[in-house]
Amino acid sequence: MKIVHATSELFPYMKTGGLADAVGALTAALADNGHEVSVFLPGYRAALEHPDAASAERKLRLKIEMGDQFLSGDVRVFSPRKNLKIYLICREEFFDRRTPYGNGDRDFEDNAERFIFFCKGVVETLRLGDLRADVVHSHDWQAALLPLLLRDAERRHGVTLSLKTVFTIHNIAYQGLFPAPAFARTNLPDELNNIDGLEYYSQINLMKGGILFADRVTTVSPRYAKEIQTPEFGCGLDGVVQTRVEDLVGLLNGVDTAIWNPAVDAALPARYSPANMTGKQTCRAELLKRCGFAVNFKGPVFGMVCRFTPQKGVDLVLANRDLFLASECRLVVLGSGDKRIEQELHALTVEAPQKIALSARLDEAMSHLIEAGSDFFVMPSLFEPCGLNQMYSQVYGTVPVVSRVGGLADTVTDADERPADGTGLMCEPNAASLRDALQRALALFADKPRYAAVQRRGMAHDFSWKIAAAGYEKLYQDSL
Ligand code: ADP
Ligand code: GLC
Repeated sequence: MKIVHATSELFPYMKTGGLADAVGALTAALADNGHEVSVFLPGYRAALEHPDAASAERKLRLKIEMGDQFLSGDVRVFSPRKNLKIYLICREEFFDRRTPYGNGDRDFEDNAERFIFFCKGVVETLRLGDLRADVVHSHDWQAALLPLLLRDAERRHGVTLSLKTVFTIHNIAYQGLFPAPAFARTNLPDELNNIDGLEYYSQINLMKGGILFADRVTTVSPRYAKEIQTPEFGCGLDGVVQTRVEDLVGLLNGVDTAIWNPAVDAALPARYSPANMTGKQTCRAELLKRCGFAVNFKGPVFGMVCRFTPQKGVDLVLANRDLFLASECRLVVLGSGDKRIEQELHALTVEAPQKIALSARLDEAMSHLIEAGSDFFVMPSLFEPCGLNQMYSQVYGTVPVVSRVGGLADTVTDADERPADGTGLMCEPNAASLRDALQRALALFADKPRYAAVQRRGMAHDFSWKIAAAGYEKLYQDSL
């Protein structure tokens, strides 16, 4: 099949979270399965400066209609792998920035223009180039306009640009909500600016467009597909999602085992596998050393890696600060984002510098070291569309402590509830329930044979993208 993807993040060219890993791994898996895969990404500075892009060719000059003006841009293409082409939609004014969505506390003010331009750039490349896609698959609000813009361009120009469209919701909490005047930039017919179109409480909602107008809609775990049909998790779009249940499916993400694999991970001081776990102890010692802790510490090390947003449940961890302070344990946190969360974590490290460490930055290598060097990975998310770190943890023999929501519930089994096949510890997304799970983690760690059994079961689980990629292939085929 000829499969086109459009995304605002793609590992290793731009990443703020799991979207980059998920789309990077899925598109690579599809290419390896012999499909012709093209991935569109905004031409961010980091992407253009990446060594892979050194060979990029300028493929097309763009003149994009944005409301009553035309904006120029260009398309550069390179191929990092057989069957895979990366298309960068470039316009310096919009994308020559270090971060994709905002600087620190605030979103960029021109995000509506930037991502409408991006989607239109994809459509124009499909129209003027020779791609002829079977399926165009777009991800999250930044690419959500694509199904609608494609059909609009087909109508205007009397052509077929893609046989089918697929839209994946990676996180319904981010919807691309903009003031009403942004609608004019889409140049879509006015009848789409109403309740059955992009309009949402007098604003425009780009994600709503993706959900309503793609031929198929997916989420990144089966449980999340159900959750977003409820007011509790639907973030105001539950009613819209309900109108598409017949075309909605939850396909669980996987782990890119070329990148997240303790047996080959170059970011680690030592490698290991279920057959020989001594390397994990070396990683643990290195992690303790990096944090300024005694390397011969014997108690459990709890790790966390996440974007600092309320979603990730860092507040539940903070609410249990006394437990961390009173127990013989270490807590290592890597993350960035919300300054309030960062400051509260920082205050905790000042209170107990000998046992709690914080790295407030983006650090890919450190994220691998924490996955490998911790004994438990703490991820008490309030909601979690899929979540990748709890899967990485299991692959790295690090027992996840997670809340029973979304993809976390789909990928972890509680070891106390199901002693014969448990792979982690689970709680409800509240502080008291997390406290109980943390206490059970301390007890589990004290029981070495039981801890090792849980660890081994997690490592034995197949989280590879083979399964997920097959799910998408079937979805594409069914839709065609
Ligand atoms: P989300 O996409 O909601 O952020 P996921 O669990 O799906 O959550 O994916 C998060 C990804 O981002 C993981 O690969 C994780 O290691 C990475 N990550 C998050 N914060 C950081 C950070 N500060 N430094 C490096 N990697 C990070
Ligand atoms: C989003 C979600 C996360 C998911 C990731 C990749 O960022 O928050 O749960 O794993 O997308 O699909």
